[in-house]
Amino acid sequence: MSGLPRDRGERRWRMSRLALVTGASSGIGEAFAERLAEEGWDLVVVARRRDRLEGLASRLTGERGVEIRVVQADLADSEQLQSLAREAVVLPLGLLVNNAALAHYAKFAELPPADVQELIELNALAPVLLTRAVLPGMLARGDGAVVNVASLLAFSGSWEAPHLPQRAVYAATKSFLVTFTQIVARATSSEQACSISNVARSSRFLDWTTRRCRLESEPLRRT
Ligand SMILES: NC(=O)c1ccc[n+]([C@@H]2O[C@H](COP(=O)([O-])OP(=O)(O)OC[C@H]3O[C@@H](n4cnc5c(N)ncnc54)[C@H](OP(=O)(O)O)[C@@H]3O)[C@@H](O)[C@H]2O)c1
Repeated sequence: MSGLPRDRGERRWRMSRLALVTGASSGIGEAFAERLAEEGWDLVVVARRRDRLEGLASRLTGERGVEIRVVQADLADSEQLQSLAREAVVLPLGLLVNNAALAHYAKFAELPPADVQELIELNALAPVLLTRAVLPGMLARGDGAVVNVASLLAFSGSWEAPHLPQRAVYAATKSFLVTFTQIVARATSSEQACSISNVARSSRFLDWTTRRCRLESEPLRRT
C-alpha cells in the first residue's frame, strides 16, 4: 500500500484515513481492522504471524477495496519495536490502535523473568513508544487519535478475587497504560486519546470506540 490516505469523496471524519493497528492477527485487533476497513480506512496491520496478517489483508482488500500493508514485527523485541516506531513517525496516521498484548497468567513468584520482561515491553513500552512516535505528527497536523486497549484489570489493585494473583504483572501494565493515556489525553485533547478499559469483540463496542475517538474529537492542541 502507499502510506497515503485516500479521499473517497464521502469523508465522514476530519482525520486522514490511514490507521495502524497492532495485534491485528486475531481477536480484538482483527476486529478493529475489519471495522476500520469497512469504514474505508487504509491500514497498516502489525503482529508476529505474517500468514494471518496476509490472510486478513487479502480478505479486506478484496471485500472493502482498501489498501493494507502487512508489517511482521515482534513488539517485545526492542529493535523491531524501534524500527516500527521510526516508520510510524513519517506515516500520516489518522489513528493508532495499540492493541497487541500478552497475559502470561501465572503466580508472580512463579512467572519466569523473561515473561515478566516480555509483558512489560509489549503491553506498556510498545504502546508508549508508538504513541511517542506518532503524536508529534498528529499535533502538527492537528489531526489524529490514539486508542490504547487496556482492561478492567487496570483497576483491580484493591480487588479480592481468586484469579488476581495470576495477573499481577498483566494488570499492572494495564494500570500503567490507563494512567499514561489519561495524562497524555489531558495534555493534548480530552477526546483524542481514548483509554479502553472494558473490551469485547462486539460491534457495539467497536462502534463506541471509533465514534468516540473520531466523531466527537476536537483538534489536537499543543501544550
Ligand atoms: N479478550 C479479552 O477478554 C480482553 C479483556 C481485556 C483486555 N483485553 C485486551 O485486548 C487486547 C486484545 O486482546 P485479544 O483478546 O484480542 O488477544 P489475542 O486474540 O490474543 O490477540 C493478541 C494480539 O496481539 C498480538 N501480539 C502478541 N504478542 C505480540 C508481540 N510480541 N508482538 C506483536 N504482536 C503481538 C497477537 O498476534 P501474534 O501472535 O501474531 O503476534 C494478536 O494479534 C489486548 O490488549 C488485551 O490485553 C482483552
